[in-house]
Amino acid sequence: MFMMRRLDATGAFDDTVSKQIVNGPMNEEVLTLAESLRDRARAALGTRNLVLVGLMGAGKSSIGRLVAHQLGIPFVDTDIEIERVSRMTITELFEAYGEEEFRALETRVIKRLLKGGPRVVSTGGGAFINDRTRRHVKRSGLSVWLKADLDVLWERVNKRDTRPLLKTENPKQTLEKLMNARYPIYAEADLTVLSRDVGKEVMVKEVLAAIVERKEESKTP
Ligand code: S3P
Repeated sequence: MFMMRRLDATGAFDDTVSKQIVNGPMNEEVLTLAESLRDRARAALGTRNLVLVGLMGAGKSSIGRLVAHQLGIPFVDTDIEIERVSRMTITELFEAYGEEEFRALETRVIKRLLKGGPRVVSTGGGAFINDRTRRHVKRSGLSVWLKADLDVLWERVNKRDTRPLLKTENPKQTLEKLMNARYPIYAEADLTVLSRDVGKEVMVKEVLAAIVERKEESKTP
């Protein structure tokens, strides 16, 4: 049996609830398991970066930030870094220079960020689709695809208009087309975790468990 602890507002696990409801010898065992998951994931990652890939709305930034907190390593969001270095928003960059130039800048920024690992790096949805960027990620990181179905993604992205690729007549259909074109490529990621509407702490646990499981698998002959 595995019991997750709650995430507090800062993203740290809070033992209080499970301590209150779990008594007896299981208590210690359960808490040790949760702690050891975090430690084992950190050890399995080593000096590599953990790179989150997937479509817009998959939760790369919000889950990535929490995973970084659990692993005790820095978090960086590549879109935010691109906006910082260019002093422009993603929308402005697309408008002023077009997607091709944006991708070239994205590749340069990600290449640089990957050099400073270990970090949790959340990437923009098109980053892993770009051949050059994908090569850099494969070389220096353990990649995790946060895979979600269309309705989950749409529910999350339709509330904001900050995504230039979705400024079309039928943005949901555009998102579906992007899914069809990109999912075979995201599937090249080292790990896949299903992103769905469950508590963030469940997603965090699943990402940590996937890191540990991959390490265990690589040990078996
Ligand atoms: C893009 C996704 C966006 C951003 C840009 C392009 C894409 O990032 O990089 O709008 O090609 O899917 P998020 O996935 O963080 O929304």
